[in-house]
Amino acid sequence: MDFISKNPANLSEIVAKTSGSTSAQIISALERAKIAQRKWAAIPAPARGRVIANVGRLVEKNKENLSKLVTKEMGKVFKEALGEVQEVIDTCDFFLGEGRRLYGQTVPSEMPNKNLFTYRMPVGSVFIITAGNFPAAVPSWYLVPALLAGNSVVWKPSEFTPAVAQALTKLFHAGGIPEDLLITVVADGATTFEAMESGLAKGLINKIGFTGSTEVGRRIGAKAGEYVQSACLELGGKNPMVVMPDANLDLALDGALFAGFGTAGQRCTSLGTLWLHESIHDEFLARYSKIVESAKVGDPFADVLYGPMISEKYLENHLKHLEMIQSHHKVSGSTSTGRITKSNPRAGFVGDPESGVFAHPVIVSGLKFEDELYRTETFGPLVTVGKFKNLDEALDLSNGHGYGLSSAIYTRDPENVWRFREGISAGMVSVNNSTSGAEAHLPFGGNGKSGNGSRQSGIWVLDQFTRWQSMNWDWSNKLQKAQMDTVELAHNPDFKI
Ligand code: UN1
Repeated sequence: MDFISKNPANLSEIVAKTSGSTSAQIISALERAKIAQRKWAAIPAPARGRVIANVGRLVEKNKENLSKLVTKEMGKVFKEALGEVQEVIDTCDFFLGEGRRLYGQTVPSEMPNKNLFTYRMPVGSVFIITAGNFPAAVPSWYLVPALLAGNSVVWKPSEFTPAVAQALTKLFHAGGIPEDLLITVVADGATTFEAMESGLAKGLINKIGFTGSTEVGRRIGAKAGEYVQSACLELGGKNPMVVMPDANLDLALDGALFAGFGTAGQRCTSLGTLWLHESIHDEFLARYSKIVESAKVGDPFADVLYGPMISEKYLENHLKHLEMIQSHHKVSGSTSTGRITKSNPRAGFVGDPESGVFAHPVIVSGLKFEDELYRTETFGPLVTVGKFKNLDEALDLSNGHGYGLSSAIYTRDPENVWRFREGISAGMVSVNNSTSGAEAHLPFGGNGKSGNGSRQSGIWVLDQFTRWQSMNWDWSNKLQKAQMDTVELAHNPDFKI
């Protein structure tokens, strides 16, 4: 099966034709990667770090071209694409130094003449499956630490962004990553799952990393569990943004605009529901509707808020979500909803809407806990808005759907901040900042329906791609039994002053 990726801003432009891999070809890639891993793990970690440094510098040199490709193939605006590629560079910059750390510990023993140590060991062969919305940055969060730590990687990128995947893979190889150590395969979901299952059964996969929907993540996690593995899962979100009455409302408006509609709402960190305190609800909603109505949508290489959706499939999904709008909801944000066309126009559209997959921004207010939209990740230019009376209620509403990826609160009162931080179930909390736009070296990940607690980025991701080995070395020349042959010092338990 061949995959054709099209420019979603101009569907007549083919970005790449890629031949897909069969399940047997993926297994053969896993076999080659497993062999390559042994040699790679034997290379001193600082030398592996130098290779990551080379990759980072090469990506930096190719930043402009790679970013153009991201915009062309995936559709995010060019400025965001530059940011995404910068995130790859930042990740390389962070991990090149980790090659000289990868610290273990020396630990005191309970017995004399005995030493205890811990070592980080590579897990072995990893199988990474990523989504189309961040075709370069999110893969790099897996690839860079996995490789640095001494693993091999077989990577299955989104079938919507194979050109970015091939370009990134070539940059890794040019930086010195052996070809068999990082192998990129393109396949559909069913083939990928079949190969993953047989790779697990054959012992060719020691760790799975997956970024994508909760539904697929649940199946992958269950399959990994059958083989006594835990996958690194970065899943969906329904990210809340809570605006308190004392907030800087101008700032909150900026944050809600970017979080809700940047990347056409297709970040896993995109704003799901804007929770507004009842005292500011009407004013804020009116202002929000106004700025969304007047925001520029269109050509992603122009100065617009957002460009096309990733593909027709993502637009279809968005249209399904529009069907969840009920009569008690109020819709604002544009002249219409659905696909932007000549007969369903958006005021101020930049470019020709008919040439691509563009959607109107949609604000759905009057959201209630019982609504299907309350508990559905919409992954498109759709923001739901609801009202709350106090912070406790805002927290219940923010947590009640069971997702827990990103969250935000806008307030000037530190007490609200501390109570929100403590009460929110999300893995990431922004204070007076958008739900999206996490920095590349803080733990990234979610809880509940958003993930199984695994974290990416920074030192924390090392726990995904290494396993602790503990070593004890007894040099007393006699068998000292732990918990039994220990030193006991005399003391007086009945002593009183
Ligand atoms: C994603 O959407 O999968 O925090 C990742 C952000 C970006 C990464 C998003 N740095 O929005």
